[in-house]
Amino acid sequence: MFIGIPCTLSFTDNSYQLPVHQSLADTQSLFICPICGKFLEADQAGKTFSCLNHHSFDKAKEGYLNLLPVQHKHSKEPGDSKAMLTARREFLESGFYEPMAKAVAMIINTTHENIQTIRLLDLGCGEGYYSRKIIEFCNNPNTISLHGIDIAKFAIAAAAKKQSEAQFIVASSIRLPYPTGYFDFILRIFAPSDDNELKRVLNSAGYLLTVTPGPRHLRQLKSFIYNEVKDHSLENLVPHDFEQLTTQRISYKITPDANQRIALLQMTPFAWRANENTQLALSSVLELEIEVDFILTLSVKKRDSTS
Ligand SMILES: C[S@@+](CC[C@H](N)C(=O)[O-])C[C@H]1O[C@@H](n2cnc3c(N)ncnc32)[C@H](O)[C@@H]1O
Ligand SMILES: [Zn+2]
Repeated sequence: MFIGIPCTLSFTDNSYQLPVHQSLADTQSLFICPICGKFLEADQAGKTFSCLNHHSFDKAKEGYLNLLPVQHKHSKEPGDSKAMLTARREFLESGFYEPMAKAVAMIINTTHENIQTIRLLDLGCGEGYYSRKIIEFCNNPNTISLHGIDIAKFAIAAAAKKQSEAQFIVASSIRLPYPTGYFDFILRIFAPSDDNELKRVLNSAGYLLTVTPGPRHLRQLKSFIYNEVKDHSLENLVPHDFEQLTTQRISYKITPDANQRIALLQMTPFAWRANENTQLALSSVLELEIEVDFILTLSVKKRDSTS
């Protein structure tokens, strides 16, 4: 797992634009062929999606669409491993990050008070924990058309199983299978993205909300791995051609039990540095308070930026 991929891809092909006759309101789910960039149309049963060039994609039994062709994969199973995903599921479902999920939902509420419906993309959604929490905590969940993408097929299958009303797609954030200006809101929680693609698929009145680790995030967990624990350095959270509107820091302490501590370790990038002794030490302490620290940054596209 990595955050912020250097990428030079850009999608300027006009075939990615919504056709003139098609307004955003009348297109519920519109996908772009990952091979040729033409629109994908669903068959009558809504099970097979194909483009004018006869590239076709079938919905899996769990209800998701795989729009990551093998030629765009850089490994057999890209994205987080099953072990990481399982650990994340176990930890998140225990509710430790729920305060952050509530804060995310509050921001969605305030940015869309007077808007009838919004298209929202959960980028790098994993098993869809935050997608489900948004629907649980937002004021008007039935006005949200929810989409989630992740490069890990196993994660998307699990997300789709749990939330059939959302549209989950296996795809890469560096090549998003949506038309230009499709989304009103993009949520990026601890997930990689590509600046050009964010700019392309967000409409001019849309919002980008990024959640990243704050300086003290998981400090006590890190102390089991590193001799000297340094504060997490703050990244530049605002993509190229975006400007920051607000930033909010949410910090609190959690006290996970031994199994939950191990799950937390396994869902982080520190896991590969932790040997058996570290894991044993982490699970043996009677009680451990761990600080969690999140930075929520809301930004919009700069007015003078093109597209
Ligand atoms: C740290 S996890 C965050 C998952 C979820 N947003 C959360 O906070 O629980 C990062 C996710 O990004 C996915 N990912 C990694 N590279 C990706 C890419 N190029 N495109 C889309 N997803 C990617 C991983 O499979 C993983 O599910
Ligand atoms: Zn095609």
